[in-house]
Amino acid sequence: MIFGEPADRADGCVGDAGMQLTADGKGWILESGEGACALFVNDDGQVLQTYWGARLPGLTDYPASPPVRPYAFGPPLQRVPVALLTGEQGTFGERTVDVVAESGLRGLVLRFVRAEPSDHRLALVLEDKAQQLEVVIAFEELKTPGLLGRSVTLRNLGTATATLERVFTASFHLPPGGPYALSHLDGRWGDEFRMRRDPLPFGALVRESQRVTTSHGGVPYFAIDRDSLGEAAGEAHGAVWFGTLQWSGNWKLIAERSADDRCVVHLGLNDHDFRWSLAPGETFEAPRVIFGYVDGGHGAVSRMLHDFVRNELAPRRDYLPPVVYNSWYATLFDVDEVGQTALADRAAAMGVELFVMDDGWFAGRRTDRAGLGDWWPDPQKFPNGLKPLVDTVHGRGMQFGLWIEPEMVNPDSDLHRAHPDWILHFAERPRTLMRNQSILNLARPDVQDYLIGIFDRLLAETPIDFVKWDMNRNASEPGWPGYERDQREVWVRYVAGLYRVWGELRRRHPRVIWENCSGGGGRVDMGMMALTEQSWASDNTVPAARLQIQEGYSQLFPASTMAAWVTDEEKDSYSLDFRFHVSMAGALGVGGNLLAWTEAERARAAEHIATYKQVRPLVAGGDLYRLRSPRESAISALAYVAKDKSAAVVFVYRLRPDRLAEAPTIRLPGLDPEAVYELEGEGISRSGCGWAALGLTVPLKDDQSALLRLQRR
Ligand code: GLA
Repeated sequence: MIFGEPADRADGCVGDAGMQLTADGKGWILESGEGACALFVNDDGQVLQTYWGARLPGLTDYPASPPVRPYAFGPPLQRVPVALLTGEQGTFGERTVDVVAESGLRGLVLRFVRAEPSDHRLALVLEDKAQQLEVVIAFEELKTPGLLGRSVTLRNLGTATATLERVFTASFHLPPGGPYALSHLDGRWGDEFRMRRDPLPFGALVRESQRVTTSHGGVPYFAIDRDSLGEAAGEAHGAVWFGTLQWSGNWKLIAERSADDRCVVHLGLNDHDFRWSLAPGETFEAPRVIFGYVDGGHGAVSRMLHDFVRNELAPRRDYLPPVVYNSWYATLFDVDEVGQTALADRAAAMGVELFVMDDGWFAGRRTDRAGLGDWWPDPQKFPNGLKPLVDTVHGRGMQFGLWIEPEMVNPDSDLHRAHPDWILHFAERPRTLMRNQSILNLARPDVQDYLIGIFDRLLAETPIDFVKWDMNRNASEPGWPGYERDQREVWVRYVAGLYRVWGELRRRHPRVIWENCSGGGGRVDMGMMALTEQSWASDNTVPAARLQIQEGYSQLFPASTMAAWVTDEEKDSYSLDFRFHVSMAGALGVGGNLLAWTEAERARAAEHIATYKQVRPLVAGGDLYRLRSPRESAISALAYVAKDKSAAVVFVYRLRPDRLAEAPTIRLPGLDPEAVYELEGEGISRSGCGWAALGLTVPLKDDQSALLRLQRR
């Protein structure tokens, strides 16, 4: 990477990626992969993001920095693209950051103070003299080509407390030349990660969560493409501007389009019910946004983000998910040593590598009405503790995993009886129970310490290899009686507390693998990807639904993290093979009642598990190609291609009656065009170029699926 010296680059040729100083020394060009972002300081000292898009051949191609000229009746967005919008000089659009001084002075007028470049990072320091507030916008060049990080830090340089009313991390100005469309992940419980594409309307399109988690209703993610004829991006082609927030709580995305067709996308912490008191000398760091540009459609975006998660973010690099058995659907709350051992015996015989006991094991837990909070083994169900069961599972050659829900408490629990004040609540109002449970206020340091203590002990006393951390309700009554500052800080402090507890437990128990769950995919985001090895994508395990959920999940997150179990849901409608093939495209697990499975079913399952172990490195570490979308037709397909292009695995599914469809032909991009690949079991060999052009024809009937493997010769 080059930084610091004015770049010596001839126009007309694309140089090395990195950050480059412009020839006049007043700007920075951040180049990575196919994309570039240009930042300039204008004569007024404002920092402008004058460009974001495809890398351009010469440095002088990037537009420089016009001064702001206030208009009497200006349009609702800046005529010039200020990198951090504060509403100064009569601009009327959404702001990136909003601060009120103790004196009542509102808004910010930020001026450039200095740049602090370091390896792979550029920090631009700005200051508002009147508010005595420093704002640092930092850009990082991430290791994954094409990806940049942006973060924002506020520091109070004054002597009075400032109130932060909004702190978004980023406002991105799209190049002129719309219209644009926004693709985003929408959803609800049991139907997460639905990719939708909405043309940007004039005005603003808002996506958000106000629930304390990122929510089933969406992921803080945007992918923008052009909405004009012939320019819209698809799966495998087209320019896409994208970004995602590394945060596991309330978030907000606003995509604005002005009457003069300028577009700005804002992303960050939700300002809904948000306030933060910034005392003299204090800093506030907003979560990072990962962003990029690529000309290769949504497939290219996903491959970049998957690489980023696997190589830069995940706590365990090169993670190969173990084949899981989870007891939830088989036993619900009715767990004990004998029943779990019977399941474990069958799971082990099928080749399962990790046996997880789900909900129901802890004190007083018979239904969902009691027990949450009392995290020690139920003395009736496990009179000798968990150790005997853990030893049995280990003795069968499997790892042992356990379900917990640390953030929750049932009113019928010792914890609740001892600390009713530890719950999110308003003293003056009743507390709304959902699933018969309340949320602990993880913003409180004493709650955090309690959770660290109790789970540290559990993990120290019992050789647990894997923990599924669940979170089964959204927030209501987000009060924090007695908190000496503004109670609205709770939304952010809760997530910071969650990160502290989870991070500390990880640090103390580095061996343990963590699964993230929130009633399925209620909290799957880049924040969680940094903390956990895998996530349970949805409580909906019906194969047809699951194909869509998994496709949506795969927009951002790699298959290595996507827990996917074969269950008994609608087992009469889908063959065991079909159900396995759906789950084998992610982190394979089994969640059916093995005691009710026939011997033949278990034998077939064992074959699939053995096959999965062979293709697992491809699924977990390969490049994903979504070949046909389950949203668009009854036949869907995806492939994982090895990074070194030595092999590929292809999954093809054919759903419900669709008599018009012939045996589908699936074209296979992503292979080495020159190399020759053999389709295993069929004896057909073609070059990568040939497979891309001719594809493979898969003779599937309704509700059949196939797993095909190609090997380079
Ligand atoms: C949630 C999870 C399930 C299961 C139950 C247990 O619904 O998503 O997988 O763990 O809780 O109560």
